[in-house]
Amino acid sequence: MMPRFIQDELQALKSASLFRRLRSVKGEQGPTLMVDGREVLNFSSNNYLGLANHPALSKAATDAIGRYGCGSGASRLISGNMTLHEELEIKLAQLKGTEAALVFNSGFQANTGIIPTLIGDGDVVFSDALNHASIIDGCRLSRAKIVVYRHCDVDQLEDGLKHAPRSSRKLIVTESLFSMDGDEAPLKQIVELSERYDAMTMVDEAHATGVYEPDGAGLVSQWRLGERVLVQMGTLGKALGGFGAYVAGSVALRELLINRCRSFIFTTSLPPVVMAMGVAALELIKHEPERRRVLRDNCARVRDGLARLGYSLGDSRSQILPLMIGDADECMRLSDRLLDRGIFAQGIRPPTVPPGTSRLRITLMATHTSDQIDRALAAFAAVH
Ligand SMILES: Cc1ncc(COP(=O)(O)O)c(C=O)c1O
Repeated sequence: MMPRFIQDELQALKSASLFRRLRSVKGEQGPTLMVDGREVLNFSSNNYLGLANHPALSKAATDAIGRYGCGSGASRLISGNMTLHEELEIKLAQLKGTEAALVFNSGFQANTGIIPTLIGDGDVVFSDALNHASIIDGCRLSRAKIVVYRHCDVDQLEDGLKHAPRSSRKLIVTESLFSMDGDEAPLKQIVELSERYDAMTMVDEAHATGVYEPDGAGLVSQWRLGERVLVQMGTLGKALGGFGAYVAGSVALRELLINRCRSFIFTTSLPPVVMAMGVAALELIKHEPERRRVLRDNCARVRDGLARLGYSLGDSRSQILPLMIGDADECMRLSDRLLDRGIFAQGIRPPTVPPGTSRLRITLMATHTSDQIDRALAAFAAVH
């Protein structure tokens, strides 16, 4: 018999306009998508540079299958550490300008594993209020005391650091480019505080990797803070168009994670095909900087166009534009009306964002054409 709570929970979600369903997407991930059987313009993807359906990644994937087969067969520490894993790690460390890098099966696994490796019972972790769920869960799994500071509020962060016991290990964790708001963390001030109060810093570059100069290395590199940040993590499934995640840092950090990080140790390693896609994507972001420039131009056009229509976009200057609505039901209705006009802009509701801050999360791609952007702006004007 089905436990009663399942239907009760589903009903409660529906009543609060928080029930989610999976949309079926057919064909390639590009600026246009086949959603529920209809072609629509895609403004809801993290495929920021358009690499997810790039022929170079497809070719690297098929070549890798030909050379290495499909599965990796075991975890990295057993027999699943293939040469391609190490090749990708060397290239990631070069991009990030760090001594070393380590690949993880996903960003979620990286965050839930890294944080408990660095801190534990009796320690303190300082976490931005808008950090991703995987960071929140990593903090919880660590069993350290969690101090959540207001979004980007370095004064409140400093206050927390001042009051933390001197003897405990301290870790500050933040995203560099926030996934749902598209704004940047005050990284320089955070790093200065970490040095003043003897805390470690971990920065999640999931949405900045591939997008920010130099060479797509991310915001830590852009601010020249690489030497002063203990852990830089990022993902390969967003701008890099593939799948998986990485940590970049010192050789000692890499060795500690290999020895202690449960989400690295106790899982089958990523298949070679995924590593080959990562290597191909790193080549593309290095040799095709114009993708980043076009993405920036596309962002500016959409941001200006939406602002002219009177939409509120928070503090975003990036490829992630949060079109603030507030009410969950209203947000989903707007998303549906846009979809009726052929524009896919997914509504984002709690618990992904705080209650009362439902929004359309509009994301831009380097492969959106001017005509597609004009069509989207016309649809936003029509539903306003
Ligand atoms: C900030 C942030 N960190 C981590 C993740 C998890 O990465 P992945 O999708 O590789 O599990 C995501 C995205 O889903 C994210 O937005």
